[in-house]
Amino acid sequence: MIEDYIEKRENPGWQEEIVLTEKAIKAVNQMVPKPRFFIVCGDLINAFPGTTLRKPQEIDFKKVFSDLDPEIPLICVCGNHDIGDTPTPDSIITYKNTFGDDYFSFWCGGMMCIVLNSQYFQDPSLVLDNAKEQEIWLEEQLSLAKSGAFQHVVVFQHIPWFLFKPDEKKEYFNIDKDLRIKMLKKFQEAGIKIIFCGHYHRNAGGFYENIEVVTTSAIGAQLGTDKSGMRIVRVLPETIKHDYYALEDLPTEINLTNL
Ligand SMILES: [Fe+2]
Repeated sequence: MIEDYIEKRENPGWQEEIVLTEKAIKAVNQMVPKPRFFIVCGDLINAFPGTTLRKPQEIDFKKVFSDLDPEIPLICVCGNHDIGDTPTPDSIITYKNTFGDDYFSFWCGGMMCIVLNSQYFQDPSLVLDNAKEQEIWLEEQLSLAKSGAFQHVVVFQHIPWFLFKPDEKKEYFNIDKDLRIKMLKKFQEAGIKIIFCGHYHRNAGGFYENIEVVTTSAIGAQLGTDKSGMRIVRVLPETIKHDYYALEDLPTEINLTNL
């Protein structure tokens, strides 16, 4: 994306992204205590499905992440570049074969994590059956979340519901307003406190009632003034704290006391 969108080169490469990702992985591998997982909130790679750079970028993504400490699981969230702005049944199948499920939930300590494919909210026109399946599955997950069996319930998705305010206008980087409010109400009822997103290539965030929507900038290309970096999320018994760090500022010691 750096050479393609920002530098607008004719034959864009991705060596700079490789170097930045290696730097991120090296920092994560050195963290004490070890992170429970490393999650990439979508747009794992830049090349859209069906383009010539797609396969080599997939190969490099896997190659670079193979250096992540095997005790730190890598969790992949599906982004618009991964399955297309208007996904097709074929682009979804290819994604699943390459990176795994496009939506799923998992449990980590006392935390329930729900990972969504936000393209089903953005443009499901060619994959209505898949979108319906996610919708039905999500209802089940939300009733589980509501059961109170978890200390925290967290959602991860690529496109943020909103960037700064729940009533902001629809634009490229957020989701349709009516759907946004309908879904945020459901999340609120299920007791979800925080939703982590990507897509914007800048840090952003805001609240809908008790839910914080957190948008994290990228390891790769920046569209604003943030530096390439990552967010460290500290899950504490009563709260979830999160801070964005430029890659060069990532700490080694992570303080898990409630400061
Ligand atoms: Fe995106």
